Amino acid sequence: MLEFLTSRRSYKRAFAERPVDLSLIKKIVESARWAPSAHNSQPWRFIVMLDKERRQVLAREMGILFKDDLVKDALSPSQVEARVKRSVDVFSSAPVLVLVCGEMAGTMDNYPDSHRRDAESTMFIQSVANGICYFMLTAHAYGLATSWYCAPLFAKTTVREVLHLPPTWEPQAFVTLGYPTDFPIRPPKRLPVEAILKFQ
Ligand SMILES: Cc1cc2nc3c(=O)[nH]c(=O)nc-3n(C[C@H](O)[C@H](O)[C@H](O)COP(=O)(O)O)c2cc1C
Repeated sequence: MLEFLTSRRSYKRAFAERPVDLSLIKKIVESARWAPSAHNSQPWRFIVMLDKERRQVLAREMGILFKDDLVKDALSPSQVEARVKRSVDVFSSAPVLVLVCGEMAGTMDNYPDSHRRDAESTMFIQSVANGICYFMLTAHAYGLATSWYCAPLFAKTTVREVLHLPPTWEPQAFVTLGYPTDFPIRPPKRLPVEAILKFQ
């Protein structure tokens, strides 16, 4: 189990051509449901984007927004083009693209005061993140590779419109999923335990 946990990697390379069975994706989501969530709220929602054309439209529309943001960052035109192209390619070409949403309405508690509302909102996001993490770990257990992308957070309205999301589903992340061609990958550095752990 310890080896399993440390060997999961964010997979940002080309995936194998091999398709992923929908029944396997269902099994992964069945396992993701067992992630811990605040009040057992289970606020995660997974949309597996099967319609390739719609997926490309979404990737391109998100690319336009991404480009606007990068231009504001004063990157050179060639850097902007390269980053936008990469982003559009990643989201259009992954064998499976999953949009993970969170649904706060009806799953989390509602409070009249802002400090408890803020805490609840944080718990909601933490809970969705746990669901994503379980999804990725389960995929790893089945020999699949994944990577988490925050892009939908920067394009919520576009994502909602293109995918006709239920109004209470909030886009949180993309997860790419597929069989790896190139594994294992050299792990990115981790902070030393001494930097992140205190005994008091
Ligand atoms: C909340 C969150 C957002 C992330 N967003 C992105 C992203 O937009 N693009 C990307 O390439 N990786 C993204 N990642 C993946 C991280 O870069 C990756 O987990 C980290 O570098 C550690 O690598 P590892 O997952 O292989 O251990 C994200 C991960 C998390 C948890």
